[in-house]
Amino acid sequence: MRDLFSKIYRDKGPLGKWADQAEGYFVFPKLEGQISNRMKFQGREVITWSVNDYLGLANHPEVRKADEEAVKKYGSAYPMGARMMSGHTDLHEKLQDELAKFVKKEAAYVLNFGYQGILSTIDALVGKDDVIVYDVDAHACIIDGVRLHLGKRFTYKHNDLDSIELNLARAEKIAQQTGGGVLFISEGVFGMRGEQGKLKEIVELKEKYNFRLLVDDAHGFGTLGETGAGAGEEQGVQDGIDVYFATFAKSMASTGAFIAGDKEIIDYLKYNMRSQMFAKSLQMSLVEGALKRLEMIKTMPELKNKLWENVNALQGGLKERGFDIGTTTSCVTPVYLKGSIPEAMALVKDLRENYGIFCSIVVYPVIPKGLILLRMIPTSTHTMADIQETLEAFSAIREKLEKGIYKRIAKEVMKG
Ligand SMILES: Cc1ncc(COP(=O)(O)O)c(C=O)c1O
Repeated sequence: MRDLFSKIYRDKGPLGKWADQAEGYFVFPKLEGQISNRMKFQGREVITWSVNDYLGLANHPEVRKADEEAVKKYGSAYPMGARMMSGHTDLHEKLQDELAKFVKKEAAYVLNFGYQGILSTIDALVGKDDVIVYDVDAHACIIDGVRLHLGKRFTYKHNDLDSIELNLARAEKIAQQTGGGVLFISEGVFGMRGEQGKLKEIVELKEKYNFRLLVDDAHGFGTLGETGAGAGEEQGVQDGIDVYFATFAKSMASTGAFIAGDKEIIDYLKYNMRSQMFAKSLQMSLVEGALKRLEMIKTMPELKNKLWENVNALQGGLKERGFDIGTTTSCVTPVYLKGSIPEAMALVKDLRENYGIFCSIVVYPVIPKGLILLRMIPTSTHTMADIQETLEAFSAIREKLEKGIYKRIAKEVMKG
């Protein structure tokens, strides 16, 4: 037998092993100042492309005022306890009604956190006889929800219709044997590469296969669809989504989340989602803040229009300059470059320190070896000047990358 901690002394985990080189810079960086298009990193002003504040609500004066007043009125504790026990209020119900109307569903339920909420949604929807089918690129919260499942599960190739059908057929076959049902899970928008889930085609498959559809629309809510109701609205299939989920952590610029669907299903979930039944309710200041944000999303279409003006300018400008932005169909803007991890590190350092551009960087094993993914989140607070400056910086760093300058820098650092 060995000390439980001995493995920790040996192996810090797939990301933790980079802590010495990366912490404070590539991971756990500290962005300072008010949340906006320009913030400070290590004392220097940078254009921020890594904050999911799509509609610019995080620091909007009306939102700040509503948040301050709500905290003054309720403090940060109220209500205490889980919803089921002592943490339920009229305002939680009001927010649910408003959210349900907004996403065109019969009912909604507010969640204290999105991650735990979706995990428990999955857990509550399936029993050991049921089968789950989900995208191989699903967000960690979906993967963790599936991990709790005691029955069969199948992943399909990312957004691949042949693979979707193949796995639905497999799932149906097993469900016929066990007497269970099939839960299909997709994201509305895949947050890393920006592709919308193939919701229209998936909903059409309901004619052929018997399954229920859960959609995590974290990045679609507020950004897609005529009214901002998300990817289902954008693709004209909101009715075909059985359980709709979105977090408040992106367009709503806050904390919390919700699920929406038919009343009977939401009522069932409200009594069976363990992370909600046994954890503190979303505090009132956040509930009131969410009501304010939702009202703004509904009544100020200019926020979404400005966001898309910026998305189109950024994505159009990158394409014009010959950058590979993959197959994004959302605001999420990936830029793929070819290079090693040490080159990626030198490149990002150059971008931040010499060009004042702060964006997230993704490398192997999240994406294939030899690729560097710079992921950008445009918001309605960005300006055309921010976009122009960023495009010029990207052209400059690509030239340096192609000339091998970052390779040399990386080698010197290694020798160093
Ligand atoms: C696709 C997706 N689902 C769920 C979540 C989790 O939401 P929350 O931050 O509210 O826990 C996130 C991250 O915010 C996400 O990107």
